Amino acid sequence: MKYLFPIFLITFAFFSLGFLPSKLTKSPFNNHFSDTTQTTIVAKNLTVPWEIAWGPDNKIWIAEQEGLISRVDPINGKKDVLLKLTDVWQLRTSGLLGMALHSDMKKFPYIFLNYTIEKDNKKQTRLVRYTWKNDTLIMPKILMEIPAALGHNGSRITVYKGLVYWATGDALSMVDSQNPLTPNGKILRMYVDGTVPKDNPMKGNPVWAWGFRNIQGMAFSSSGQLYTSEHGDTNDDEVNLILKNRNYGWPTVQGFAESDAETIFKKLNNTVDPLLAWTPTIGPAGLDYYSSNKIPELSNSLLLVSLKGKSLRALKLDSEGKSIIEEQVYFENKFGRIRDLCVSPEGDIYLATSNRDWNPVAGFPKLEDDRIIKISGLSKSDPQNLLSSLPPGSKGETLYLQYCASCHKENGMGLNGIFPSLQNSQTVVLNPKELIKKVLMGSKGPALINGVSYDAAMPAFGFMKDEDLLDVLTYIRSIGSSHATPIEPKMIKQVRASIQ
Ligand code: HEC
Repeated sequence: MKYLFPIFLITFAFFSLGFLPSKLTKSPFNNHFSDTTQTTIVAKNLTVPWEIAWGPDNKIWIAEQEGLISRVDPINGKKDVLLKLTDVWQLRTSGLLGMALHSDMKKFPYIFLNYTIEKDNKKQTRLVRYTWKNDTLIMPKILMEIPAALGHNGSRITVYKGLVYWATGDALSMVDSQNPLTPNGKILRMYVDGTVPKDNPMKGNPVWAWGFRNIQGMAFSSSGQLYTSEHGDTNDDEVNLILKNRNYGWPTVQGFAESDAETIFKKLNNTVDPLLAWTPTIGPAGLDYYSSNKIPELSNSLLLVSLKGKSLRALKLDSEGKSIIEEQVYFENKFGRIRDLCVSPEGDIYLATSNRDWNPVAGFPKLEDDRIIKISGLSKSDPQNLLSSLPPGSKGETLYLQYCASCHKENGMGLNGIFPSLQNSQTVVLNPKELIKKVLMGSKGPALINGVSYDAAMPAFGFMKDEDLLDVLTYIRSIGSSHATPIEPKMIKQVRASIQ
């Protein structure tokens, strides 16, 4: 689905299910809200905690992207280091990513990690199991090693009923996700020693479901259903309900199957539509299921944190967990980018910020970032509806903030060596046709990260409506120069025709 705004999409999804769109409904639990939000900082000065998990010792286990596994005691904030990996290859969105504790740590004191390494000059993602003994992590056992890249490495791991589920990224391959014989772009399922369970769909193959791009959140509900959150390309971030042996459509189907190509592909391959999709994207990350009654309005919800969206979302499930019937947004812009969360047995929510990662946003990192923030109650005024949280300003500016600012930054200055400044760009002000062409088609150019050159991609925005392109391009020209003229509507049509 490429042409609609999320409001239409969600409205469509909810009307088609017979529900009102979430933006227009009031939570039936409003009377349970307390007067004030209760938030406490329980850890600070972390560096990109990619994953946090509640441990059997009532401490929060933390995996920081550079390779550190530590724990923090949420009562007194004391932090101790359990393991420092020395062979992590960390740049951009590679490094130490997923971490999961076994669901029965008493019998199986295992923790599972996945991180990027460099081996024979190639990037690999390693899935490894450590044993927790005498309060140290020992006896690493490598379960799998699969291709990795600078981005799209996923990943999340979760253990449910003694089985390990591992969501892998497509590692920038455009073919692996649709090939059930390769490990990338999949959800893999295995025993704790890496062997393949007999009831997997394909004999001797860990693949459980496929057709994924870059999963960033994964959680089981208390009734045993598996959900994921996933980064789309320039459009269509998703939350999915994962079914055994099913295809989720990437790269052909993005979001709901709606275009001709998507519907045909869906028919031929029996692909599964997401429960929810977002365009403009929100950069979804950690996902958890809220089963507690401590914050009643959240019960039976998926809790989803987001990077670009800088918020916590509560996605209320129907009684069978098969659709999302309400979407609420909390703490938008308050803590910056949020990468993961965990829920304690008492029902408190812990959020982990990601403001020191490769792509920081205006106003962050704060001095104490990255932080872990405890949420033990929500106030009536916390949830925001998406319509009212649109930033003020012209439509061009709004579109810019939604589609472009995640890379070119709110002020248009970009990120040194990676995303060019649009304020000082000749392409932006001098030659409107070149500008239109670049934004319609996207392009790849070299970017310099830590002195190493990589291909940085400007995504293609051909899916945007002409009137929206007109507004956003006119807006970036106005920040580039006060003399730049507005883009003329017919120019966009001409350029579209010339590149077909
Ligand atoms: C995912 C990150 C990303 C997003 C989102 C993005 N861009 Fe870009 N953009 C880039 C990169 C990387 C380049 C440099 C590509 C190259 O060198 O060819 C670029 C280059 C450009 C350029 C050319 C600048 C120059 O001086 O050559 C323009 C204009 C531009 N982007 C406009 C936009 C607009 C308008 C949007 C939103 C509709 C947008 N970009 C969204 C990453 C992004």
